[in-house]
Amino acid sequence: MARTKPTIPELKHLDHVLVSETAIRRRVSALAEQINRAYRGKDLTVIAVVNGALIFTADLLRQMRSPLRLDCIRASSYHAGTAATGKPVIIDNLKLDIAGQHLLLVDDILDTGNTLSAVKELLLAKKAASVRTCVLLDKKARRVVPFEAEYVGFEIPNEFVVGYGLDFNERYRNLPCIGVLKPKFYSGTV
Ligand code: IMP
Ligand code: MG
Repeated sequence: MARTKPTIPELKHLDHVLVSETAIRRRVSALAEQINRAYRGKDLTVIAVVNGALIFTADLLRQMRSPLRLDCIRASSYHAGTAATGKPVIIDNLKLDIAGQHLLLVDDILDTGNTLSAVKELLLAKKAASVRTCVLLDKKARRVVPFEAEYVGFEIPNEFVVGYGLDFNERYRNLPCIGVLKPKFYSGTV
């Protein structure tokens, strides 16, 4: 029997889809394969930057073949609407001892670079053996701090996107694709 997918009313808030659900699925598989090859035979610790990286990490992990452990770190950039202001606040509530461990830092998007460079610095200060970064999206045009991720899903233009873990004012994280909201849904909140 054919199953129909539940409809998500908030999909109607999108002006356009930038990355479809199918494109995400294919790219996540390819990234996992690349990471599997790089870490073959190595013990790996994945550090997800939550909340944004939650959905991406969940999908990526299920295709990773190395023996691994998972921990999360919380970062927030005090977003007011679509503009991140100042330095990110990192809440270091890591449970695992990461000293001497090979780490894969996973986030939803690399934007100004402030968050990932601060998190990476923190992880290195805790004596990680190595830290590589994997992001689903990269908005290169927005970079303020020099930072490059070793594994990148998609380079995207300088537009504020939602879906697949990414939010606008904590909404839209559950959309299965990545898209740009209609202007009226961004307005009045910045
Ligand atoms: P940074 O500017 O590289 O420090 O990125 C900070 C955080 O801002 C990211 O981890 C995301 O959570 C968020 N962010 C940046 N760009 C977008 C976007 O287009 N949509 C949703 N969240 C974003
Ligand atoms: Mg984030």
